[in-house]
Amino acid sequence: MPNSESDGPKQPQTGATPRAAPSRRTPPAKVQEKPKAGLVSRILNFFGRGESVDPAKRRRRTVQALVTGFLGINFFMFLRFFFPRTLFEPKTVFRIGYPSDFGYGVDTKFQKQRIWVVRDAEGLFVVYARCTHLGCTPDWKPSENKFKCPCHGSGYDSEGINFEGPAPRPLDRAKVELDAEGQIVVDTSVLYEWPKGMRSEFRDQGAFLQL
Ligand code: FES
Repeated sequence: MPNSESDGPKQPQTGATPRAAPSRRTPPAKVQEKPKAGLVSRILNFFGRGESVDPAKRRRRTVQALVTGFLGINFFMFLRFFFPRTLFEPKTVFRIGYPSDFGYGVDTKFQKQRIWVVRDAEGLFVVYARCTHLGCTPDWKPSENKFKCPCHGSGYDSEGINFEGPAPRPLDRAKVELDAEGQIVVDTSVLYEWPKGMRSEFRDQGAFLQL
């Protein structure tokens, strides 16, 4: 009796597993995305204005928002405490070089530090560039050999002595001294004045360098 399995036509053996027929599934229906609520409507919803919300719930949300805001502001102020507003002013004590770096006359190299360096036959001194009337910064006018204040017209000669305008006294002078290396050190926090009718401090120690 022929065996139906062994006698039937043999299939060629390729060793590959037969592929499953592609299933014909219908693609999933696209989920309709909800339009995103705007910021205003979200805020209104939070406070229960955009929908009907239990009044107790609305009150709770309002209190919650107020407390959160209060704590947030306090936390921000606490952090701000660690970052104080600092005003970075230029140094008041600084070196300007050696006496030999300065020739006779007015040197305007250090305007950033608000000073002029003046050298004459006797020595060197530093004029502080602040008008003694109301504190404006005068300009050096080399063609007129004078300092001129742009605010109200005070004029000072090349040594800073006032001769015109409302300025009540000569320009102040900053402290100068030599350091161990022989460099000139200026300190604009120490000023020497010559108030009207009073003793001049311009010959005090520190007001000039004898060279
Ligand atoms: S501030 Fe200089 S003249 Fe008034």
